[in-house]
Amino acid sequence: MLKGKVALITGATRGIGKAIALKFAENGADIALNYRSDNEALRTLVSELEDKGVKVLPVQGDVSVLEDANKIVKEAVDGLGKLDIVVNNAGITKDGLIVRMKEEDFDAVIDTNLKGTFNMMKATSSIMMKQRSGKIINISSVVGLVGNAGQSNYSASKAGIIGLTKSIARELGGRGINVNAIAPGFIQTDMTDVLSDKIKESMESTIPLKRLGNPEDVANLALFLGSNLSDYITGQVIAVDGGMTMN
Ligand SMILES: NC(=O)c1ccc[n+]([C@@H]2O[C@H](COP(=O)([O-])OP(=O)(O)OC[C@H]3O[C@@H](n4cnc5c(N)ncnc54)[C@H](O)[C@@H]3O)[C@@H](O)[C@H]2O)c1
Repeated sequence: MLKGKVALITGATRGIGKAIALKFAENGADIALNYRSDNEALRTLVSELEDKGVKVLPVQGDVSVLEDANKIVKEAVDGLGKLDIVVNNAGITKDGLIVRMKEEDFDAVIDTNLKGTFNMMKATSSIMMKQRSGKIINISSVVGLVGNAGQSNYSASKAGIIGLTKSIARELGGRGINVNAIAPGFIQTDMTDVLSDKIKESMESTIPLKRLGNPEDVANLALFLGSNLSDYITGQVIAVDGGMTMN
């Protein structure tokens, strides 16, 4: 489905980003793999992806810094020749009730999740505009749609990503560029591993499909949005949440 395409995925060494990288590589895309710091997981993933017969280029950088975002995109294009798909997946949480939340915890989450997504779209847009094609996929969250106690910083960042997605979809639509957001529900990754079994069980009972999601559930939608099958879809926010937030 993605043969001949080049995809850049941020925060790609584990969790949802890793699942998207594997899914894209299985479907023939060459992969630029953004990471913040070199580690064993990165090296293992690079060889796992190479085994699928595609080109793989690790690109270091912190998406919350615009200079880094420019460098990540430049290295990807210089190394792999072009850029067809960008998945803005890098994200962090620093949870706490508003009365206890530190200003720096609010700023850090906004800087990585929201500004990081802005930085990457800014760095990518002119390249895709010149190509007159491209797919931008932003990873938001269901909490950006419905809110969550204890996650005001994270929910605000993810709601902001939805506003960014819709605005940039309007700006770039005329150039053949699709911009969409995925809103995952409760997906089992390192990010959610910190929650107790009790919380996980009570979450599960509220999900119509009666199970937590896995990274591949999100990667399947990313594959569709990254492929030509989504050519007439832009500015949308699609939940992958087992029905949790249906209305
Ligand atoms: N797991 C869930 O239930 C869930 C639900 C909704 C949305 N999401 C979103 O999905 C995305 C992936 O989440 P995950 O569960 O795989 O989390 P994760 O913590 O396993 O992965 C996040 C990745 O982002 C990287 N990262 C963080 N800050 C970065 C920065 N400034 N620059 C570059 N990379 C950076 C991390 O190193 C890590 O590899 C995040 O945006 C998250 O908010 C996750």
